[in-house]
Amino acid sequence: MSVLKKSILAITISTSLIVATATIAQPASSEKHAVYTTELRQSIFKLLGSNMGPLGAMAKGKIPVDAAVVEKNAKRINQLSLMIADYARTDTAKFNVKTEALAKIWQEPEHFSKDINKLTVASVALMVAAQSKDEGAIKKAIGGVGKTCGGCHDHFKKD
Ligand code: HEC
Repeated sequence: MSVLKKSILAITISTSLIVATATIAQPASSEKHAVYTTELRQSIFKLLGSNMGPLGAMAKGKIPVDAAVVEKNAKRINQLSLMIADYARTDTAKFNVKTEALAKIWQEPEHFSKDINKLTVASVALMVAAQSKDEGAIKKAIGGVGKTCGGCHDHFKKD
């Protein structure tokens, strides 16, 4: 094997090790760390809630459907969905933090990441619907996103 090939192989292996390590949940290292980590995790969900608020009102017919707002918020929801895994990685379960997160998040990581993925996929469908400007399709796609929020909450969030 050439030196070049060997070093490429070494780089490939070390990169995959970094990825593998990064996906393992680490417990918070102190109470202070657990509190801050929890705040960051909740920030993502607060922003999801803030972006979903007007969309829910549009779907219910409380405010007119505005395709430009839907597209903007759908993009934000999509980006936020991609941040959930990183910001929910640290296991805060054994700390006395103010949280609605259930310990199942860190006990069932595959299920949790599937639920994240459902939101990512639904937010893409909403972006597509917004671009079509078809009101019926937009309302349906908003419902599709909302279902993925509720699906995860049912399993991983306290009532
Ligand atoms: C993969 C799981 C998952 C998905 C998907 C998800 N959530 Fe959540 N959400 C949670 C968990 C867990 C909490 C509790 C977080 C905590 O208290 O630490 C939460 C909390 C919240 C909160 C309360 C935040 C606070 O602390 O004030 C809001 C609002 C919220 N989610 C809205 C949404 C909306 C809107 C969507 C969809 C666009 C969504 N969530 C999708 C798991 C999820």
